[in-house]
Amino acid sequence: MNKIKGNKIVLVGNGAVGSSYAFSLLNQGICDELYIIDLNEERVIGDVMDLNHGVLYAPSPMKIKAGSYADCHDADIVVICAGAAQKPGETRLDLVGKNIKIFKSIVEEIMTSGFDGILLIATNPVDILTYASWKFSGLPKHRVIGSGTILDTARFRYLLSKEFDVASSSVHANIIGEHGDTELAVWSGANIAGVSLKRLLEMHPEKEDRMKDIYINVRDAAYQIIEAKGATYYGVAMGLMRITKAILSNQDVVLTVSAYLNGEYGHQDVYIGVPAVINRNGIREVIESPLSEEEQIKFDYSVNTMKGIQTPFFK
Ligand code: LAC
Repeated sequence: MNKIKGNKIVLVGNGAVGSSYAFSLLNQGICDELYIIDLNEERVIGDVMDLNHGVLYAPSPMKIKAGSYADCHDADIVVICAGAAQKPGETRLDLVGKNIKIFKSIVEEIMTSGFDGILLIATNPVDILTYASWKFSGLPKHRVIGSGTILDTARFRYLLSKEFDVASSSVHANIIGEHGDTELAVWSGANIAGVSLKRLLEMHPEKEDRMKDIYINVRDAAYQIIEAKGATYYGVAMGLMRITKAILSNQDVVLTVSAYLNGEYGHQDVYIGVPAVINRNGIREVIESPLSEEEQIKFDYSVNTMKGIQTPFFK
């Protein structure tokens, strides 16, 4: 009897983010086959051995192999974590030139295999590299997704959850825009169990000033972590795993990912962090959250910053 093909993921880039993502997939038991590609083939062999030795204790058996671009041909998702990472003192946008060049060759190799699945991008500057991947791949817009502000939203909800002493999962609050310095908090839509943040702050006026600190801590978290340990990887790997689960389990869940805007929020032809419904086909639709006037102005600035940087590469 023929074997049934399970969920297959190819990971391109086995650095700190990629290997943390691979480890999260093993722990979550959400995919059947994982192929890992990296220029450092020696490290891939070591990681593949190391991960396979943990399969016994994983929720479900998972085949993990060293891969090549030919393995992308029947992959459900190809996840790209490869590229230069931020160093202390660097912004994500400082990486754009070198990473667009790297991405051109990676995406061309992936598409040569006949890949026709979903591309998931994590490398920074992720919004611009997601746009670049869409351009280079020729895949439909809804099947190219960036990790976007999925991690920023998680940081935001974590800090609000500590402030209001509830679980992060009970805090409904999003960060949208660039995954970077121009990102913004959608304060106007933030709530806990339907009680608006505005109302909560009326009841607890002493917390008002903390809100500014919370936003700054979210926006600048990566700089702090990079200063402390050289790179960030666990948080973004968990965000990538969450998006992967939403796709493979066809969840129709709303996550703040880097999605293509085709008129939503008043913008076109850009990938940027917005709430979007994610399922087995990729991005089902972008959700247009109501924004205050100030939030719209900040969002416009974030979009225009991304377009200003990407346009010279794709005019
Ligand atoms: C961070 C990286 C993933 O924000 O950009 O931690």
